[in-house]
Amino acid sequence: MYHKEMKPFKKDFLWGSATSAYQVEGAWNEDGKGPSVQDVKEIVPDTSDFKVATDHYHHMQEDIALLAEMGFKTYRFSISWSRVIPDGDGEVNPKGIQFYSDLIDECLKYGIEPLVTVYHFDLPQGLAEKGGWENRATIDAFVRYCDVLFDNFGDRIKLWLTINEQNMMILHGAAVGTGESSIKSLYQQNHHMLVAQALVMNLCHKKLPHVKIGPAPNISAVYPKTNNPADVEAADLYTAIRNWLYLDIAVYGVYNHQVWAYLEENDALPDMEPDDLAILKSAECDFIAFNYYNSSTVEALPSGTERKAGKKDQQLSDSQEGFFAGSDNEYLPYTEFGWQIDPTGFRTTINQIYSRYRKPLIITENGLGGFDKLEDGKIHDTYRIDYLRNHIKQMNLAVTDGADVFGYCTWSAIDLISTHQGFRKRYGFVYVNREDFDLKDLKRYRKDSFYWYKGVIASNGKNL
Ligand code: BG6
Repeated sequence: MYHKEMKPFKKDFLWGSATSAYQVEGAWNEDGKGPSVQDVKEIVPDTSDFKVATDHYHHMQEDIALLAEMGFKTYRFSISWSRVIPDGDGEVNPKGIQFYSDLIDECLKYGIEPLVTVYHFDLPQGLAEKGGWENRATIDAFVRYCDVLFDNFGDRIKLWLTINEQNMMILHGAAVGTGESSIKSLYQQNHHMLVAQALVMNLCHKKLPHVKIGPAPNISAVYPKTNNPADVEAADLYTAIRNWLYLDIAVYGVYNHQVWAYLEENDALPDMEPDDLAILKSAECDFIAFNYYNSSTVEALPSGTERKAGKKDQQLSDSQEGFFAGSDNEYLPYTEFGWQIDPTGFRTTINQIYSRYRKPLIITENGLGGFDKLEDGKIHDTYRIDYLRNHIKQMNLAVTDGADVFGYCTWSAIDLISTHQGFRKRYGFVYVNREDFDLKDLKRYRKDSFYWYKGVIASNGKNL
């Protein structure tokens, strides 16, 4: 729909960007931090491990000053569970608490609202060794960990995010480094995470009635490959599996009926305790945060069809024989890393979520990974500016359509290590001088997009 005039973004719109602990911090075994699954996993050949990353742990003040220079209203970061509780369910590490306390204070010093994810793909290895999320005891460990965070930071953090991209951990665990298993085990883990999230949302509401908490899945509109009703039905099912399962539970506290039937069909219904459904029903998020990189396209994949079913990565479509097959979209261009680019799909996605749930929305990741070149101290990343500009325009259209959007974070604030494509896949406004296997001097450089985003924030999204 065309609009004669665009509505402005809210006056206190939260412009910012995001990172996650294991992708940016480094200091993987310093000051009492325990290993997470990301520290011990098998690294994709020819890409860096996560031991040093951006070395943000040792550059924290310098990095936050750069975000403040851009005029950030919010900074989304995650807390490393195993930095706070090294084995996941034992002693609390005071130095871990101190680091995040300092980071929060540093943000607040500049008037930057911390937006904190409590868990972003980095389960403590100590818990993984006891069965990880398949083990029901991990629910208690998670609730206790969050309780520690609420006690220590609840006075200063107003916006909390529970679990980053739970849906991608289930659908693309190999790509995001959380591991793969059978569909039955995955949906058991999923169920435990959902119960844990519900308990934590309730705990947060009880303990900290002045703060807000929400989930942070990766949501994208799913297009049918053609208007063949079989393809439309496949897209509808995949939308439920990929998107609505997670948000229906966070908002309405119920399992999506199509996903329930799909799990039944695949002998993958989770085992539950008698109270589980009541726990899910008792919790409700205050807002919806979501990550968007591009849309998905699927077609029907009837049983016995001669076509390879399989998983790719979090933005390359999934396939399952008998149900749906991921497909490219012939209308969309690609990034250098093979992800399609669909700004219009962003508007569609925002509107789909808002019309289904009517909750305030914040975008917690959106961005382009590319090979940046440092030349004479400059990085001319026009491709990143184009990507972000086109997405912000579409977000503005969605706001004009009437969706309630209160914030937008790009991915990422500063260069960091991609989940499975190394340091060379850069997303930041700030360039970090290192390569996958050469740590160089880790010096920070402002990219062209740094100055551009500063102007976007200063004009509250008008100067694009
Ligand atoms: C999201 C994750 O899936 O996409 C981030 O929440 C991740 O952790 C981002 O880095 C970009 O993906 P990738 O695979 O390029 O790192």
